[in-house]
Amino acid sequence: MPLPSLQTRLLAWYHKNKRTLPWRGHPNPYAVWVSEIMLQQTRVETVIPYFEKWMQRFPTVQALADASEQEALNAWEGLGYYSRARSLHKAAQVVVRDFGGKLPQSMDELMKLPGIGRYTAGAIASIAFGADEPALDGNLKRVYARLFDVTEPVDSPKGEKLLWEIARQNLPKGRAGDFNQALMDLGAALCLPKNPRCLLCPLMDLCRARQNGTQELRPVKKPKKAVPHHIHAAGVIVRRGKVLLAQRPARGLLGGMWEFPNGRVEADPAGELAQVLEAGYRLKVQRKEALGVVQHAYTHFRVTVHVFQCDLLAMSDASSVVRWVAIGKLEEYPMGKIDRWIARALL
Ligand code: ADE
Repeated sequence: MPLPSLQTRLLAWYHKNKRTLPWRGHPNPYAVWVSEIMLQQTRVETVIPYFEKWMQRFPTVQALADASEQEALNAWEGLGYYSRARSLHKAAQVVVRDFGGKLPQSMDELMKLPGIGRYTAGAIASIAFGADEPALDGNLKRVYARLFDVTEPVDSPKGEKLLWEIARQNLPKGRAGDFNQALMDLGAALCLPKNPRCLLCPLMDLCRARQNGTQELRPVKKPKKAVPHHIHAAGVIVRRGKVLLAQRPARGLLGGMWEFPNGRVEADPAGELAQVLEAGYRLKVQRKEALGVVQHAYTHFRVTVHVFQCDLLAMSDASSVVRWVAIGKLEEYPMGKIDRWIARALL
């Protein structure tokens, strides 16, 4: 007698074991969209409270489109990868302008929206609209790489192509939304990156990596590049209950968000601070006492920021990126982790 198929077993397992998540169980494409963007680089447990707050603050595509980018960034603060919030906000405006506020259903149109790539389009199309589309994120790549014992690096073009083909071939017609989410839950609960819990897995005897004893070696990834470490010096410049903030350029890392004036230094944060604030913002300052050291790891580099209190000696009127902000109003200005840490230390 043939073994029950991958699809039958996985869907049965999902029926019994699926997680109750706030974006599941109601067919609201906007909620699915928001959840998938938040989940792109962030764990489910972290996303849940942000998702709930976001849906209260911006309950519809229209509400999000009507909000300002700063409001969207504010609601996103703490989740990281802020270009996701900027793209989501921009895409909401496109959906209102071009699609009457309703998310389009085709993969092509979804993928034209800012922030929606192949994975997210597949997830929305299958979960929200019932389309037969695969959706492969890092977790699903791991699950498939094990099920089919894929030796190609999953982050290489060849490996990617192979995995998308495998995912498409294994999709049960009419059940792609549940099937994709079943794989996500299986990846989160059992098919873990380290020490996969094979003995509990409904797919154990179908899994080629398990048969070959290679489950711990899959997925294969390309060797990682070393992550650079940058040292910055930042100035806290206070005058009459207000502090000087600078807005970052609209694009790129933490785009449009606010920070304490700072700059990269070579080796000596205390010695180079005045120089980097002059070069970066046309601010002339006198360094005072050290306030602390903050570290953060971004995807492509690590940064250590040395923070100093400063007296302002002179500033140029032409420096349009800086603004005096009342210390009591700092929470209204979206910031990354480092600057929020500094801001909270001032309260
Ligand atoms: N990760 C990404 N999308 C997900 C979803 N819809 N359910 C659970 N985990 C996910």
